[in-house]
Amino acid sequence: MIFQNIISLLSKPYKMQNKYISIGFSNILYLIIILNLFACKQSGDQNAIYNISKSVTADSAMVASAHPLATSVGLDIIRQGGNAIDAAIAVQFALAVCYPGAGNIGGGGFLVYRSKDGEISTLDYREKASSFATADMYLDSLGNPITDKSLYGHLAAGVPGTVDGMVKAFEKYSKLKDWKKLVQPAIDMAENGFKITEREAENLNEDQPLFIKYNLAPTAFHKDKWNAGDLLIQKELAQTLAAIRDKGRSGFYEGNVADHIVNEMKAGGGIITYDDLKAYQAVWRSPVTTMYKGNKIISMPPPSSGGIVLIQLLKMVEPYDLRSIKFQSAATVHLMVEAERRAFADRAKHLGDPDFYKVPSVLTDSSYIQRRMVNFNPRVANKSDSISYGMIESEETTHFSIVDTEGNAVSLTTTLNGGYGAYTVVRGAGFLLNNEMDDFSVKPGTPNMYGLVGAEANKIEPNKRMLSSMTPTIIEKDGKLKMVVGTPGGSTIITSVFQAVVNVIDFDMDADKAIQSPRFHHQWLPDVIITEKDAIPLSERKLLEIIGHTFKDRNAIGRMEAIVITNQGKLQGAADRRGDDDVKGF
Ligand code: GLY
Repeated sequence: MIFQNIISLLSKPYKMQNKYISIGFSNILYLIIILNLFACKQSGDQNAIYNISKSVTADSAMVASAHPLATSVGLDIIRQGGNAIDAAIAVQFALAVCYPGAGNIGGGGFLVYRSKDGEISTLDYREKASSFATADMYLDSLGNPITDKSLYGHLAAGVPGTVDGMVKAFEKYSKLKDWKKLVQPAIDMAENGFKITEREAENLNEDQPLFIKYNLAPTAFHKDKWNAGDLLIQKELAQTLAAIRDKGRSGFYEGNVADHIVNEMKAGGGIITYDDLKAYQAVWRSPVTTMYKGNKIISMPPPSSGGIVLIQLLKMVEPYDLRSIKFQSAATVHLMVEAERRAFADRAKHLGDPDFYKVPSVLTDSSYIQRRMVNFNPRVANKSDSISYGMIESEETTHFSIVDTEGNAVSLTTTLNGGYGAYTVVRGAGFLLNNEMDDFSVKPGTPNMYGLVGAEANKIEPNKRMLSSMTPTIIEKDGKLKMVVGTPGGSTIITSVFQAVVNVIDFDMDADKAIQSPRFHHQWLPDVIITEKDAIPLSERKLLEIIGHTFKDRNAIGRMEAIVITNQGKLQGAADRRGDDDVKGF
């Protein structure tokens, strides 16, 4: 009987944008099932330390970030006359204090900007490999990766890009023209301390052994037991931020702070030098763009894979009328997963730092992308490979979305890579080092911490930027700002942004519904659909298993911050239910 039903479902047509095609699942028998997704809209009641807001509508300006203190800092800057770039700089520094797992000055990131007049640009402040990095630096004598060597401690760190990135953003676009004002809130927070949330206390407690193992002296994060509401005071970080406030770029890449970094490297076996620090430069790059169902998608080019893969995913599903195939139905999930399988295969082969490797321009060409879907079979899951890899579920990047009173927008994703990066704090300077070197193909063909495989394009070379999945994205429609979106989540970043965009454009969801809905993810290898609980109704999941898909469940995918501009011109903001994330506006 079940078999009969499946046969009948498979024989129903897939509806494309303007026509039905004769193979595929039914587009009428699937139920739209969204199971109690929004029960957990407010985390403020569970965590009374801060007044956290998950969903808000405002007229004028909005900030959505991973921490309520950072959200407040950003909105205050806008209230004082700052624009979205001013607010972004202040939020970046604030998160380095109040969200130490991913906010940072010892890491890097990407910023996508759209001015009120439609000018678009992106800033790449991704970390770089030291000039002493070598292709085999994480391999043993037999050429096999040494466990954890690219993940923890001094040698895992790339040259940090955040401070130079913020300086460059300030020089080009600041309206306030008052650098000190943008850094000061972070200094105050580090100097006086702030109350940690329950989630932060849990993370710090869980990771105490790693802090102890990868530091040469106790750090501000050491404590027998952290509790929600405890004050986290970071005096050394406050001093470093004060140097940045007073001297800008040279307060970090030269002088005392550079001494601390180089001393730390020498003591702990790291390879970052004075010259590496002095030479680091963030780069303005042209965004990658495409049209998707009448919307202009503006996203991050390499060394992030995010923009190109997002464009491929959207163009692969564009011929289909997802609305009629239905949200999270087996047919929709199958289509999106098959697109993801193909796009991530391209990512592994073709993407790397464009300053070192010529990324093929054809990757975003519509006809090339359509050709990639020629062997898409609505009845059968394609097989990626027989190899399967484990996934480590630490994906502590962070994203924030900002719109200011004039309509300028910033979409910014920043990271230390894993939660608390390399776990190593620079003694005397108080900030955590990234473990971004693991984002290189440590050994081409061998998966990194996200299970991602890479090739020659992303091999380690001196001074090269490691490939990223960060996908800060801005969407405009008819020349007007429509959406600002992004998320952490390692390799799942791209597929989460993909789903949020499709949720808004194809399924007409508001910002809150679009990002609180459960997510799923496929990345070519391992050949498995990673899914949040309830992301795919059981009946649909059974169908997907019958045609050859396999599943792996997990708790949470991503922590997204989105702002959608309604047809009436209101700002509709949403902060992810999966964290302490907070959105506010006025
Ligand atoms: N470190 C995560 C990413 O850049 O994609």
